Amino acid sequence: MTTKVKLLETVDYLNEKKIQAPKIGLILGSGLGLLADEIENPIKISYSDIPHFPVSTVEGHAGQLVFGELKGKNVVAMQGRFHYYEGYPLDHVTYPVRVMKELGVEQLIVTNAAGGVNMEFEAGDLMLITDHINNMYQNPLIGPNDPELGVRFPDMSTAYCPQLREVAESVAGELGIKVQKGVYVANTGPIYETPAEVRMIRAIGGDAVGMSTVPEVIVARHAGLDVLGISCISNMAAGILPQPLSHDEVIETTERVKTDFLDLVKETIKKM
Ligand code: 6GU
Repeated sequence: MTTKVKLLETVDYLNEKKIQAPKIGLILGSGLGLLADEIENPIKISYSDIPHFPVSTVEGHAGQLVFGELKGKNVVAMQGRFHYYEGYPLDHVTYPVRVMKELGVEQLIVTNAAGGVNMEFEAGDLMLITDHINNMYQNPLIGPNDPELGVRFPDMSTAYCPQLREVAESVAGELGIKVQKGVYVANTGPIYETPAEVRMIRAIGGDAVGMSTVPEVIVARHAGLDVLGISCISNMAAGILPQPLSHDEVIETTERVKTDFLDLVKETIKKM
């Protein structure tokens, strides 16, 4: 079955649930999923119920799509994403982005927790992503190209939409929220980097490092969506501070900055 045919089946199923067609899509990263709880008149659909969605290997928090309104705009949020390190091929990781496009989404907000590589950052900073470096040695577009989904050789000169970033930056200014800007580097994970790898990432121009986002943004651009990317710097990357890295720190920090994160995203959506 072609991706296009799968997409039509997925969208038929979602439309049976009486959703309002969303114009804005949200992918919520580790510890940032609570934004989906703020969606008004929500219709929540478990990934496991959606035809052709990846089957979750992890028990418990499989994730769901949440349709509804934020600041008066129709949105769809992925509460929980699929990661390459979990063993999903990248066409599965990015399938939800294709679904969003098929539903009518035009703008995508992608969020993640990331390690700070730029020495001027500190844990708890929010970073507007200006660009990325795909360091995963994989690409979701490898394979035959369906011209109905996008062009064979997509341009990536403005992977992250400058206009959307400007909106977010001015909203941050109005709300008194400090935001950094920088380049996100995607590694496969699940390990955090060695100090030598962190120095390499800094040398090649990275400001933050994580294990997600880049595959979804590549597919979003292939599909013609405009992207706003926001990283929550949950910790500094290895070798910068004396303590070892832990996922607990990632969750603690995202918890600490959640109000700023929620305010920034919601007010930005209002102005999109
Ligand atoms: Cl330091 N590295 C990676 N790859 N992902 C992260 C991280 C670091 N901190 C949060 N997520």
